[in-house]
Amino acid sequence: MTRSACFITLEGLDGAGKSTHIPWIEDRLRRAGVDLLSTREPGGTPLGETLRELLLHQPMDLRTETLLMFAARNEHWRTRILPALERGQWVLCDRYTDASFAYQGGGRALGAAPVRILEDWVQQGRGPDCTLLFDVPLEIARERLTRGREQADRFEREDAAFFERTRQAYHARVAADPSRFRVIDARREIADIRAELGGILDELLHARGYGTAAGEPDPS
Ligand code: TYD
Repeated sequence: MTRSACFITLEGLDGAGKSTHIPWIEDRLRRAGVDLLSTREPGGTPLGETLRELLLHQPMDLRTETLLMFAARNEHWRTRILPALERGQWVLCDRYTDASFAYQGGGRALGAAPVRILEDWVQQGRGPDCTLLFDVPLEIARERLTRGREQADRFEREDAAFFERTRQAYHARVAADPSRFRVIDARREIADIRAELGGILDELLHARGYGTAAGEPDPS
């Protein structure tokens, strides 16, 4: 079976714990023989990282915020993600367009329609093959966030109602496209979450022609 590329995104509220699992996911995929681009949004390119600084710390109008998210995304998508997928690499991206639906569309109450227009314009019908949504109740996300942080950014400083709307908007995304999403109950112990993630990654690997045994190249 010919091997093929896969675009995986990670989503969830700030404090859901996604960053705890990223190095483990990267390692698991690389050990299965995947040539992996691991990246993040906003960011992922020199321009995108500059925009990230502004987005996280500079007060701005909501439309400006949304446009800058997509400006960073367009640069990232066209210059890094799409070329990588076309070369057959896998891409693991910490947040992508679902975050714009959740945070700008939901949290900031912009609504989904403008985000959908920008998504269509930038991505032209292409997007992630699989999205892992790290889902936790609001109280747990906030508790983890305040424990781990010295200085909160513009999003992390938002109130509980903002994050409730954000979480609901994530769930609306899942309801609209259930086959793309895997909702991970991120309240559990790290080992239990990893066991579930391992199963999901094995399925993705298998479907794209990769053996799942660590370090074993596919003989075909
Ligand atoms: P995050 O990636 O969680 O970084 P860290 O773990 O270093 O804090 O933070 C990025 C923030 O950007 C997060 O609060 C969500 C927000 N965001 C949006 O509001 N819209 C988007 O489209 C994206 C990609 C991120």
